Amino acid sequence: MSEADAILVDLQAAEVAATGALGAAASLEDLRVAQGEVLGRRSPLARINARLGALDAEQRRRVGAEVNAARQRLEARAASRRDELEAAGRASRLEADRLDLTEAALLGPRAWVAGLPDRGRLHLVTQTRDELEDIFVGMGFGVAEGPEAETDWYNFEALNMPPAHPARSMWDTLYLDLGEPESVVLRTHTSPVQIRLMESQPPPLYAVAPGRVYRKETPDARHLAVFHQLEGLVVDEGIGFADLAGTIEVFTGAFFGQGVHSRLRPSYFPFTEPSAELDVTCPVCAGSGCRTCSQAGWIELGGAGMVDPNVFSAVGLDPERWTGFAFGFGIDRLAMIRVGLGDVRALTDNDLRFLHQF
Ligand code: DAH
Repeated sequence: MSEADAILVDLQAAEVAATGALGAAASLEDLRVAQGEVLGRRSPLARINARLGALDAEQRRRVGAEVNAARQRLEARAASRRDELEAAGRASRLEADRLDLTEAALLGPRAWVAGLPDRGRLHLVTQTRDELEDIFVGMGFGVAEGPEAETDWYNFEALNMPPAHPARSMWDTLYLDLGEPESVVLRTHTSPVQIRLMESQPPPLYAVAPGRVYRKETPDARHLAVFHQLEGLVVDEGIGFADLAGTIEVFTGAFFGQGVHSRLRPSYFPFTEPSAELDVTCPVCAGSGCRTCSQAGWIELGGAGMVDPNVFSAVGLDPERWTGFAFGFGIDRLAMIRVGLGDVRALTDNDLRFLHQF
């Protein structure tokens, strides 16, 4: 065999071995080493190249062209192997960085108890407020809001309680140090939203207004200084007391379940005439008498009544034309009754063992 043919045989063997070594590189570092070994100055290819000098000019050109072609194929293979390794590296980094968002779905309300990470949840009072809104929206009511810092006019005067009216003492009021003395209060009830509603839009009006209210009160098992009420207001033509009673009864069944009923007991509020105290059958004993209802079988929720003509006059509505009813009750109290809570202060203690139950 001529030296030229011997070189070509060795070249073929070297290329096969080199292609295998480049393809076997498992990392960019492996590839860098393999590239040095198969294409570098001490590589078989370099040694083959050195042998070209012994050939005559014509053979050197022919065999040299083969060696160059083999080198170019090996360089192309090295480049394609680099691309493969880089793509694999990107894929594994992406995989490592991936956030498994499906995991959150595994964490239910009991996750915290089981020692799993917690997602948090809405407070029981917030859940109750949302549910109340849903019930009234389902009955055709809108949802309104008003400010927690109110003027004396909205909190008392427009609600038929002129200055020094004795009924003002029904609410232990917190005053803000703003403007004239005792002219701005932290609202003691959500009833001022009635006034704002009637001022801001013409009847017919069907709205509820949930929100935070404040009383100068020392917290105990049944009272908080900051709590929540839901106010209801309907103003239309030809509204009667039966509409009030029916609305309350439908709401009671929707919130507490069928079998819990409501009753309206004669009472007094300055902004309604007639006025009523609003009770529901005790959901704990279904009316037969227990500790929760102090053996009464009924639990007091709040107040209600027909909007007093003086209130209509205060907002410029004609009491001869418009009639309406209003009601207001405690949201915290509703939540407490339904879950059978003995001490309302548990709602504000921020004890996660308590809050995580709801
Ligand atoms: N605002 C009253 C309170 O906090 C509750 C109330 C009574 C609201 C009668 C009303 C109502 O809308 O008509 O004690």
